[in-house]
Amino acid sequence: DKAGHKHFMAKEISEQPGVIGEAVSHYVAADNTISLPDPGLDFTKFDRITMVACGTAYYACLTAKYWFEQIARLPVEVDFASEFRYREPPIPGRTLAMFVSQSGETADTLAALRYCEGKADKIASVVNVIESTIARESDLALPIHAGVEIGVASTKAFTCQLTVLFLMTLKAALDRGTITQDQLADHISALRSMPSLINIALEQNAAIRDAAQKLSPARDVLFLGRGAMFPLALEGALKLKEISYIHAEAYASGELKHGPIALIDENVPVVVMAPRDRLFDKTVSNMQEVMARKGKVILISDRAGLEEAAEGTWAQIEMPPVADALTPILYAIPAQLLAYHTAIAKGTDVDQPRNLAKSVTVE
Ligand code: F6R
Repeated sequence: DKAGHKHFMAKEISEQPGVIGEAVSHYVAADNTISLPDPGLDFTKFDRITMVACGTAYYACLTAKYWFEQIARLPVEVDFASEFRYREPPIPGRTLAMFVSQSGETADTLAALRYCEGKADKIASVVNVIESTIARESDLALPIHAGVEIGVASTKAFTCQLTVLFLMTLKAALDRGTITQDQLADHISALRSMPSLINIALEQNAAIRDAAQKLSPARDVLFLGRGAMFPLALEGALKLKEISYIHAEAYASGELKHGPIALIDENVPVVVMAPRDRLFDKTVSNMQEVMARKGKVILISDRAGLEEAAEGTWAQIEMPPVADALTPILYAIPAQLLAYHTAIAKGTDVDQPRNLAKSVTVE
């Protein structure tokens, strides 16, 4: 049942305020205590986290690396399950191994989990399907509470994965004494305001559709971002490839001049994800290098960022201001909608893109 939407993907994008609110209320009590399901995790017992996943879930892990390292000062390694399982990496003592999977049945992720059995101190999974094999075989399974996801392109599962990973970061930071109670309260109140901020982002639908219409004839599209906007750029590029079949690549903005800038000309639209945070000026200077080579920029930022940097850009998408730590959750919305409307403009099958399956249970 698409609940009045043309596609499951549109329905699932629109459900994000509700399901993220749900996920938060499952983990956080009114007094701001964060409780993980039994048997819980004591982050003073770990010196590092190894995160393993595929596709969109992998990008959720890459985003969480920025959080765990910055907020909880805990080193994180992230790997594709298909690489990890055959590389057979050494797992040092005091390692928490984490597996992120919407379906909980992805073959490579499951094999990577089994490789860690008896090697990692603890195995935790972040799943949507709590009865899944990956959940069952973990010491601790954390549900993301996204509800059933039908669209092949993952949307609400991604933002719910991010929400749960952010809450785990806060728990780790508390256990390890890297944040104060006041800082915790600030993070949680920012997280509690996510549903209303996402609603504001969803109201930008028409502007995003216009940008998508301009984008749709392109053969190649680049996505740029810095810091935790880099994994979001990767996710935006994956969404666009999957459902619109446009070739899209993402780069960390600072890598541009090390090669990819050679691709830029008037035929290559470049999506720049740049909230007005401490890295904004750096990203904008990369964006100006793109414009100097006639690249057409779609700038996604907040009002302050657009006022400062939108001149000369091809299209602008305005997001509401949001706490720096939570930009990845909010900026997922325009990334998803841009892909969605580009696919609509091209007339592709949004919910059942060619060659793709919802759950990849063979390697
Ligand atoms: C992209 C997408 C895939 C999945 C990947 C992992 O939109 O849906 O990249 O994220 O196949 O699937 P799960 O999370 O079920 O392990």
